[in-house]
Amino acid sequence: MAALSFKNLLDANQITKEDALTILSLAKEYHDGSLKGKKLWDDCRGNILATLFFEPSTRTRFSFETAMLRLGGQVISLENEETTSIKKGETLADTARIISGYSDMIVMRHPKGHSVASFAEYASVPVINAGDGANQHPTQALVDLYTIFREKGRLENLTIGFMGDLKYSRTVFCLLTVLSHYKNNFIFIAPPSLKISDERKKVLAKQNSNIREVENLDEVIGELDILYATRVQGERFATKEEYDKVKDSYSLSKKDLVKAKKDVIIMHPLPRVNEIHPEVDSLPNAKYFEQAANGVFARMALLSLMKK
Ligand code: CP
Repeated sequence: MAALSFKNLLDANQITKEDALTILSLAKEYHDGSLKGKKLWDDCRGNILATLFFEPSTRTRFSFETAMLRLGGQVISLENEETTSIKKGETLADTARIISGYSDMIVMRHPKGHSVASFAEYASVPVINAGDGANQHPTQALVDLYTIFREKGRLENLTIGFMGDLKYSRTVFCLLTVLSHYKNNFIFIAPPSLKISDERKKVLAKQNSNIREVENLDEVIGELDILYATRVQGERFATKEEYDKVKDSYSLSKKDLVKAKKDVIIMHPLPRVNEIHPEVDSLPNAKYFEQAANGVFARMALLSLMKK
């Protein structure tokens, strides 16, 4: 099996164009097998995955756990630090050493930026970042890239609009990072207070990405091949008042899509709150539930390729 360039996956920047191609090809193999009725593979038989979630998750945690079970491996899981010795004052470094003795791979989400990378320094098995604060969520980028590839049949020559909370969204920045291997046009749609940060824009500028910024979807909807909406990340705001000011900035409904290309696809990493009205769900353009389901195949590929 082709090797990946990294031992731990902590940052979307680690994913080379070759890595992306290897992961997407294997994800497609698993997906095609599943469509033909296959439910169980042997590629991780004998392996134990530890999932450590110090922040809530539905998709990332369950799709990783499903992926490991489908690959013939097993899962041990932490979903509440209250029930572990961290509550007694044990450090993340010692937790990393201990869980490495009980598992073959670790998937971890934590509210503090860079905490998963610090944890990985003390782990002796591969560690995958499942989200660290507003910083990184590299496996969501793989899920999104796989969804674009599956729906559009290509990863370049696309005009992609990113709408909503571009300030705190780790998924948007991670997807932009992996998409920087390909030539595309990016349009950022956000109110002034939720714009992508200058720091992140500087990083994107170095990658020669073609970027535009607007405040209203209506100005650009007719140009888009993909509309990627995001939730306003209430948990990242300093105060509830600040969050309340912008929480309803966008709510996509059918009328907003009147001028859209017939084959525009609508993506969202989910969970959604008000960004997409449920009336949009029945449109053939709505791909966010497929995107979530694709998480199993992208993560099966990643686990298979990263196991020791
Ligand atoms: N997209 C995503 O990370 O969803 P969860 O928070 O439910 O894992």
